[in-house]
Amino acid sequence: MLNIRYELVKEKKAKPDWDNLGFGKHFTDHMFIMDYDAGQGWHDARIVPYQNLSLDPACMVFHYAQEMFEGLKAYRTPDGSVQLFRPDQNIDRMNRTNERLCIPQLDKNDVLDALRAIVKTEEDWVPKKEGTSLYIRPFIIATDVQLGVHPSKSYKFMIITCPVGAYYAEGIKPVKIFVEREYVRAVRGGTGFAKVGGNYACSLIGQEKAEKMGYSQVLWLDGIEHKYIDEVGAMNVFFVLDGKVITPALEEGSILPGVTRKSSIQLLRDMGYTVEERKLSLAEVEEAYANGKLDEAFGTGTAAVVSPMGLLDTGDQKMLINNNEIGPVAQKLYDTLTGIQWGRVEDKFGWTVKV
Ligand code: COI
Repeated sequence: MLNIRYELVKEKKAKPDWDNLGFGKHFTDHMFIMDYDAGQGWHDARIVPYQNLSLDPACMVFHYAQEMFEGLKAYRTPDGSVQLFRPDQNIDRMNRTNERLCIPQLDKNDVLDALRAIVKTEEDWVPKKEGTSLYIRPFIIATDVQLGVHPSKSYKFMIITCPVGAYYAEGIKPVKIFVEREYVRAVRGGTGFAKVGGNYACSLIGQEKAEKMGYSQVLWLDGIEHKYIDEVGAMNVFFVLDGKVITPALEEGSILPGVTRKSSIQLLRDMGYTVEERKLSLAEVEEAYANGKLDEAFGTGTAAVVSPMGLLDTGDQKMLINNNEIGPVAQKLYDTLTGIQWGRVEDKFGWTVKV
């Protein structure tokens, strides 16, 4: 059991308007912190009042972006209890990201203890309204004070939490996506599979371009041929072509292995759909569209949950998908997945963990 020291606030913050939470705007009363120093390992786990950090401006994170993060949620169930969804998957991914960024490994049980402890401490922040949850953001920063390019020997692992509603203003309504053909998000051998801030920093320019044109997000193509579909930054993507569900395979290492992606593949197969994980070219999607066989497209992610795509702009054409309505596959997946997460549907896979 991780030994956690508690320093609790004397006065709690006012709670936000539960009807207008948005995403990532309101932070709770406390945060979790644990330090790492070479020779000592991870130490001094504590839950303290949510507060600013004081860091030397030469800290490595500010210069060479040795930083990683995760995202998961705590859900309020009908009996009032609180549960996490597949935290083991996020913890495993954390350590895969850490390996790629030369950040020391974390003990799986310690991270689970930390997650449970911070959520338990902030239990009154877990919202109750339909479609809301407590978003949990674990992250690690390199804190060595020096400008040489080497892995840091000291780190801070922190967890902050915030009550959230839908990630997109559209909620479960279809979003408009723009296919980015100039910039790329990741390449083979890079960090696309890892959850690092740098992946998101380099995506901002495409994202901003798309937003200016009225789109919610960018669909990234592979970094080598600009031909194959990778992902949508905040989501993995699924296309339903002629009744078959297809999602880009992870082998190239340029796509984030989403926990919602993995769960969706399993749930869809369990529902009887054929799901193929393979290379999927934009040309194949365009051909299916031309033949009236692009049935549905949707994204999946912890923050975005299941988000239908109503319009995909390739630059050459604007493909209207399923008449800009949520399709039956996405709807069934959304209902089942969120049913398990919010404890309304039997969790026959054993994915939920009570706090
Ligand atoms: C998540 O889905 O948890 C993410 O980390 C994506 C982020 C862009 C909000």
